[in-house]
Amino acid sequence: MTEHLSWTPDLTARSGARYRAIADALAADIDAGRLPEGTRLPTHRALAQALEVTVGTVTRAYTEAERRGLVEATVGRGTFVRPHKATTADWMRPGSPPRNDPHSALSLEDCGAENVEPQGPIDLSVNYPARTFLAGALQPGLAGLDGDIGRLTALAGYQPSVGRPEHRAAGARWIAQFGLPAQADDIVPVHGTQGGLTAVLHALDRPGDALLVEELTWPGVHYIARQHGIRLITVASDAEGMRPDALAEAARRSGARTAYLVPTLHNPSNITMPDARRDALIETARAENLMLVEDDIYGFLAETPPAPLAARDPERAVYVTSLSKCVAPSLRIGFIKAPASLVPRIAQAVAADTLMVSALLLEIAMKLIDSGQAQAAARAQREEAAARQRIARRLLPLQEPAGADSSFHAWLQLPEGWRASSFTAEARAHGVAVTSGTAFRADGTDPGAVRLCLSAVPERAQLEQGLTIIADLLARRPEAAMPMV
Ligand SMILES: Cc1ncc(COP(=O)(O)O)c(C=O)c1O
Repeated sequence: MTEHLSWTPDLTARSGARYRAIADALAADIDAGRLPEGTRLPTHRALAQALEVTVGTVTRAYTEAERRGLVEATVGRGTFVRPHKATTADWMRPGSPPRNDPHSALSLEDCGAENVEPQGPIDLSVNYPARTFLAGALQPGLAGLDGDIGRLTALAGYQPSVGRPEHRAAGARWIAQFGLPAQADDIVPVHGTQGGLTAVLHALDRPGDALLVEELTWPGVHYIARQHGIRLITVASDAEGMRPDALAEAARRSGARTAYLVPTLHNPSNITMPDARRDALIETARAENLMLVEDDIYGFLAETPPAPLAARDPERAVYVTSLSKCVAPSLRIGFIKAPASLVPRIAQAVAADTLMVSALLLEIAMKLIDSGQAQAAARAQREEAAARQRIARRLLPLQEPAGADSSFHAWLQLPEGWRASSFTAEARAHGVAVTSGTAFRADGTDPGAVRLCLSAVPERAQLEQGLTIIADLLARRPEAAMPMV
């Protein structure tokens, strides 16, 4: 008698090893709610027959699914879907990604931004904080909003574009932890670091102006520059980050008045600029009359980060950070600390863009900061990131710079012969999404490396699986991956 199959995977769009394709299809169907907890999967033999594969392949697929925690097998009874954990579908229900600009080398997907759809079964392409902690990190702040109708009434209306004094003060307290003393009056709350960078660059630069950037740059800044008609000028970097002599030369040549840098746990290189380099860059900024825009979004991940640029000369650097990576991306709360003379212009840019930052979200952020829960969430992220870095360093020949032991990402230099784009495509064909290094170059050229986001997948086991696939690819000659014609 033919067994009625409780589940038959659709493998048509899945390439790569069959057993893995079956396990991936199983994960996807569980994610999508098509396979409720407790479902008994078909016997190995029946599924093998239906899919026209060997029984060994199905056995391997079920073993893989068991290893991922998707199913459990009981001798004599069969294989059953386990109670669901948070999976891809839970954390990344898609909003439609914006349309790409067809005239540009970069798309928003390249930015690794958080509004992209999941790219594959193992997505290491988005610099996500560990998702296990996000809901728990937000909950106390959300709960704290309840109840006080007077307070809610105050928050419910339009607010000054520079923010309410108490929210600005909370921002100052948050920033002070990272070695940057701040007063409420120096702070402008913004929607995420991206909102902050947009406001600062709009306040400082006019269309046609030049912005000096590192050789590898967070693509969100490429995006702002493109939208705003700002020219990006690349400044040579070395193992310590942007080179002061190259900065001076580029400033003179281009007439730029602004430079953008990520001095701590740079995305994607992971370089943390040492103290002396920071001091030298400040010296150059003074000599060349430059304003430095300092993005410190990853500073909380560093054990003992050097003092920010803005702490070295508060008149020469505008500091931007957010709670996106330590509390939750969707909180969309960040803070700018700027020289007092620039605060009104930055507030005007916020007003032009969104009128104001949501006071409700700021209230949640303030409660989390003042209760110490934001700091606890940051600690949890740091510890998880460190565990994932250890996994990555065990599985891959990484050459990460000093101080990157708890970074969310790794910057993988490819062996001779690989191009970043062909390696990215090959990894993708094997079910792993990584970010091509080309996304970080303003001119789209190939740095011969890819970025791996280690915290993006929900489970460490999935990370191991993805990195094992990457390690296998690294061991192959690139030619083997090329089509014959
Ligand atoms: C260097 C850098 N800056 C800014 C951002 C955007 O952060 P937010 O979500 O706070 O807007 C990111 C996000 O990955 C980033 O890597």
